[in-house]
Amino acid sequence: MRPTTLAEADLAHAFHPQTNLAAHAETGPFLIARGEGVFVEDEAGARFLDAMAGLWCTGLGYSEPRLVETARRQLDKLPYCQSFGGRAHEPGIRLAEELAAIAPEGLTRAFFASSGSEANDTAIKLAWYYGVARGAPERTTILARRRAYHGVTVAAASLTGLPMMHGGFHLPHPFVVHLTAPHFVQQARDGETEAQFARRLAAELEEVIDRLGASTIAAFIAEPVIGAGGVILPPEGYFAAIQPILRRHGILLIADEVITGLGRLGSMWGCNHYGIQPDILTCAKMLTSAYQPLSAVLVTEEVYTAIAAEAGRRGTFGHGFTYSGHPVACAVAREVLAIYRERDIPGHVRAVAPRFQRRLALLGQSRHVREARGLGLIGGLEMQKAQDAARLEAAARANGLIVRAVGGDTVALCPPLIIAEAEVDELFDRLQSALAALGD
Ligand SMILES: Cc1ncc(COP(=O)(O)O)c(C=O)c1O
Repeated sequence: MRPTTLAEADLAHAFHPQTNLAAHAETGPFLIARGEGVFVEDEAGARFLDAMAGLWCTGLGYSEPRLVETARRQLDKLPYCQSFGGRAHEPGIRLAEELAAIAPEGLTRAFFASSGSEANDTAIKLAWYYGVARGAPERTTILARRRAYHGVTVAAASLTGLPMMHGGFHLPHPFVVHLTAPHFVQQARDGETEAQFARRLAAELEEVIDRLGASTIAAFIAEPVIGAGGVILPPEGYFAAIQPILRRHGILLIADEVITGLGRLGSMWGCNHYGIQPDILTCAKMLTSAYQPLSAVLVTEEVYTAIAAEAGRRGTFGHGFTYSGHPVACAVAREVLAIYRERDIPGHVRAVAPRFQRRLALLGQSRHVREARGLGLIGGLEMQKAQDAARLEAAARANGLIVRAVGGDTVALCPPLIIAEAEVDELFDRLQSALAALGD
């Protein structure tokens, strides 16, 4: 019999990503029909405050007419153009120029892909190619951290430090070596301060480099703030301690700003906030406010020049996607950046973040919560009992609020950056009732 309802068709034919597929067969889909501002609505008209901005991505909310109009105009004019063999178009060129103007110092070139995973895959390939270009082809190891999330393609999933993304897939691939998660509440020793913990992590990095040999290591990759691994902020002094070690050993630093880039922390980049000077930076998600799939890999002129020289020797640079620099996505991203400038979106984040963080910290007093932590408009509630993270997500949904259990033990909050103060209160009022509904 032909499925008749959307839910039936979903159960019969859809294959959901990042879903408990056995449970899904019982519960069926959570169908979203429309969105406006920071709210989404299901088929029956029930409204939910989306405190996850989709998947950490709809920075400008769900109903920004300028982005819709920009996409429509670009679709009319030039709906597609490839970028291979030197082909180019205005939205792609101008976006690269505009990103170079706002990027952390020294990042001058933009390579485009469609997702965060593709951007991180590309970053690894660039680090390898750069090694070959500078006469160090044996630099193949990439250092990452446990609890990091860098995506799901074979290489990006290998960088990711979450067992759930490895089990059943023959991953991680052995070119990745994972270091201790920079997670103070879980990893610090008795009596250790944050600064001491950060120094111990830096010492671990030195030990691993000594053991493997610096000449075998291409790059170190890190999210300024770990997102999907549990909203983990680096301990005080962490990046200041590790950067000189990487530099001294000629190891590239890749900053994965797929979540933290473009205003989430109240600065344009997580790198600005933490004083990180990356050789390569990846961003996606809020680059188009998720209205189109687009990611960018930004590199320094030095990395670009070496790669360009190597590509010259080989005849061509053998990497790129059909949708690299898609003109509709690039046009939408340019409009996002224009709105950021005109409305000072990072400034708005700085204005509402104190209220957001204050209300988050209050929830830290609940006996169900082990730690409340956050920065800017990102927050996490690490639960005393890991299973309470999924329970709180469900209780919040029953209360008209979308949050997400991440990293196995933490409930993440990452609302659209345009959230108003009153909506911040509404978010936390709903979350507070959901916490109360967990009972004793
Ligand atoms: C920090 C980080 N890097 C990479 C990715 C992967 O991005 P995508 O899902 O677009 O491949 C994500 C996705 O959540 C992310 O949070």
